[in-house]
Amino acid sequence: MRTTWTFHTAGEFVFGPGAIEGLPEILDRLKARRLFLVTDPVLARVGLVERVAAQCRSSQRLVEIFDGGVPEPPLELGVTCADRARSFQADCFLGLGGGSNLDLAKLAALLVSHGGHPRDYVGEDRVPGPILPLLCLPTTAGTGSEVSGSAVLTDVEQQMKLGILSQRLRPQVALVDPRLTLSCPAQVTADSGIDALTHAIEAFTAVDNEVFPLPAGERTTYQGRHPFGDMLAEQAIRLAGTHLRTAVHDGPNMAAREGMALAASLGGLAFSNVGVAAVHALEYPVGAAVHCSHGAGNGLLLPYVMRFNLPARLPQFAKIAEWLGESVTGLSVDEAAERSIQAVEKLKSAIGIPARLRDIGVREEQLPLFAEKAFAVKRILRVNPISPTREHLEKILRDAF
Ligand SMILES: NC(=O)c1ccc[n+]([C@@H]2O[C@H](COP(=O)([O-])OP(=O)(O)OC[C@H]3O[C@@H](n4cnc5c(N)ncnc54)[C@H](O)[C@@H]3O)[C@@H](O)[C@H]2O)c1
Ligand SMILES: [Zn+2]
Repeated sequence: MRTTWTFHTAGEFVFGPGAIEGLPEILDRLKARRLFLVTDPVLARVGLVERVAAQCRSSQRLVEIFDGGVPEPPLELGVTCADRARSFQADCFLGLGGGSNLDLAKLAALLVSHGGHPRDYVGEDRVPGPILPLLCLPTTAGTGSEVSGSAVLTDVEQQMKLGILSQRLRPQVALVDPRLTLSCPAQVTADSGIDALTHAIEAFTAVDNEVFPLPAGERTTYQGRHPFGDMLAEQAIRLAGTHLRTAVHDGPNMAAREGMALAASLGGLAFSNVGVAAVHALEYPVGAAVHCSHGAGNGLLLPYVMRFNLPARLPQFAKIAEWLGESVTGLSVDEAAERSIQAVEKLKSAIGIPARLRDIGVREEQLPLFAEKAFAVKRILRVNPISPTREHLEKILRDAF
């Protein structure tokens, strides 16, 4: 039982088209002399890496570029990246990219600051002290990693996603320049956008903070639903309802890109304090086994988990329906709540998120193992408004199959 709640964010949040022009001043203030920029080859190809690196270089500052990032990065890549940063003697890190690169930058900064292997830090609150200054610049509108205290990596051997969670992983600076998302292809926009919506919906329908089932003596970054989380999640849901379709189908539309960039950060602030729940727990084994993107896996599973959670959160789901643009006037709360599932299904099909697990290469015989692996992700499942059994999880997967 918790009686108080807290709210954490990145040290500084900078938002707006053209925000990257503020980098020289920020880096001077941080006294960054040797900046290690973590990114990937796709972003180098579209010219974003050079655009950002050019803002960072000065007579006072060297910039080393690591462009070996990959989607859903394996733990071991953190070791390679940290080794490079160490030999460069980095004193400041900058993650540029989608959640994958931002999480890799967090992990590299952590390893350079405290040594050891990534596995030493997997789980909750195992980072022993502050990490070197870290700036995160998202180029997708989705994960909210720029403000969150988590780094999500892939355990290739176990075919599972692993999380490192600590308030110390929240970047010193989150710099969100929506222009950096203009080059996102439609599919990346759709997948990452529905991830942002999933964060907000899971936070808004989470278990209440007052009854958050935290075992005695345990500390956690997730703490259940509270007023700050609600406020942020509401805005994120409204923004995604207004802008996600347009961002996918009309990529150059700056208002839609800006709306989604804000939705992603607000969703990140909500979930990184309140928590994510069963959608994420189920996506971890699914995504790691079939290599779908995190967003596509979440978007696919979202309506099925909403159906499971519906009885426990009727008024909240009724609100979500309204915020996603459904007409709910004259409907009972139950009817309006049902509309939230329809709204998400319509949105999914409008932006091309697969409807069923079979569509992304899952085989039926894999479902029991996925349920078992998801059931083990207790730190997330305890955020869910209904505490699911292993059988419940398997049933959700079968419905989604
Ligand atoms: N740390 C957190 O809080 C958190 C939260 C949710 C998800 N995640 C993790 O984030 C990862 C997913 O991140 P994502 O959805 O942002 O996608 P991503 O980072 O995996 O990127 C997907 C692809 O899009 C490309 N791309 C990114 N931005 C682009 C741009 N502007 N123009 C052209 N191409 C671009 C990338 O190069 C990559 O090939 C997963 O590993 C997931 O588990 C982390
Ligand atoms: Zn997510």
